[in-house]
Amino acid sequence: MSEPTTAVILVAAGSGTRLGADVPKAFVDVAGRTILERALRSVLGMAEPAQVIVVAPSELRAEAERIVRAALGEASIAVNVVAGGDTRQQSVAAGLAVLGDDVDVVLVHDAARSLTPPALFELVIAAVRASGAGVIPGLAVADTIKQIDWMGSVEKTVDRSALVAVQTPQGFPRGVLVAAYASADQDYTDDAALVAAHGTAVTVVDGDPLAFKITTPWDLARAQSLVAPESAPAALQWRTGVGIDVHAFDEEAPLWLGGLYWPGEPGLAGHSDGDAIAHAVCDALLSASGLGDIGGRFGTSDKQFENAHGEVFLTATVELVRGAGFEIGNVAVQLIANRPKLAARRAEIEVHLTALLGAPVSISATTADGLGFTGRGEGVTAIATALVTTAP
Ligand code: CTP
Ligand code: MG
Repeated sequence: MSEPTTAVILVAAGSGTRLGADVPKAFVDVAGRTILERALRSVLGMAEPAQVIVVAPSELRAEAERIVRAALGEASIAVNVVAGGDTRQQSVAAGLAVLGDDVDVVLVHDAARSLTPPALFELVIAAVRASGAGVIPGLAVADTIKQIDWMGSVEKTVDRSALVAVQTPQGFPRGVLVAAYASADQDYTDDAALVAAHGTAVTVVDGDPLAFKITTPWDLARAQSLVAPESAPAALQWRTGVGIDVHAFDEEAPLWLGGLYWPGEPGLAGHSDGDAIAHAVCDALLSASGLGDIGGRFGTSDKQFENAHGEVFLTATVELVRGAGFEIGNVAVQLIANRPKLAARRAEIEVHLTALLGAPVSISATTADGLGFTGRGEGVTAIATALVTTAP
């Protein structure tokens, strides 16, 4: 049998930071099969046989090989498994290094676009062969796009008719891709950008909505419900979290609580400003999103957070939570303390924290009836709960 003239480099060596699973992204389960296995099945579903090159994290090569064998079954198709690099570009380069001699068209595909139909690979291959140029799938942009400045103010509306959202597989004549990689002197966000920088034309063919990239937990839930609608995990839709913070009083320090300054009140001791309410809220949000806790995320020994106000942690936490694909439902906090008396400023704290989180925050307070360290007035405890959602 003659050797394949097409190769598909399936890059699966990323860690999946934004997905936040406990294994690298390609090894995460989507309704009974890993992301990598589903991506492989799409590639193997093409009518024309291709050399398949799986680029896996180096420590998981053996696991990737096992998945390849399971996906191949009886099929006698050449599949190479190679170790990836620190960046996607390095991973693609590792794949290019093992191209078969007869290959003249190379497709690069994100394993994370796990549900891409085989027909899209075939369309890209045919277009590369017909044009001799780079070919990438793209979808029209449905949302209105704004250009903003670094403060988040809108500068202008961009003409979306001139834009496409680009997917993979991206296909190239072998010589073009290999030469472009050999001369690349910086990191590009996709292969088309690298090839275009090398001076070769790239054209766009119609992409497929199913070729979306699994990036966040929300995308994973979408993939799951597309593959097995009945078994889509309801548990992923809503998640609660809890956070507790305790600080001792420090008469010398100013008091910062709930993101506000409290003149005339004894302050709280801590590496940062000791804002127990803000810290408990951060812990509850991180807990709900499965992102660990404030100590693990922001490091109490980190100079950057020395004396930092609660807002710094809250803003960074909101970014992490959103980055992991969650929206905040609401947050509730209770302060257990003899002082300060919260009643007079409760609404002020609620408005302040609600604005910071972009979701309702409610505050309550109680004393401990003279019992324990809070009862004796040695310090305060704040307990927060948070609800986050992955639903659109
Ligand atoms: N990829 C890779 N090697 C890397 C980084 C990424 O092979 N060093 C692959 C990923 O496995 C994925 C594809 O490139 O299939 C697209 O990358 P992305 O979706 O960003 O995946 P990750 O980098 O794993 O995710 P994150 O950016 O959230 O960490
Ligand atoms: Mg990445």
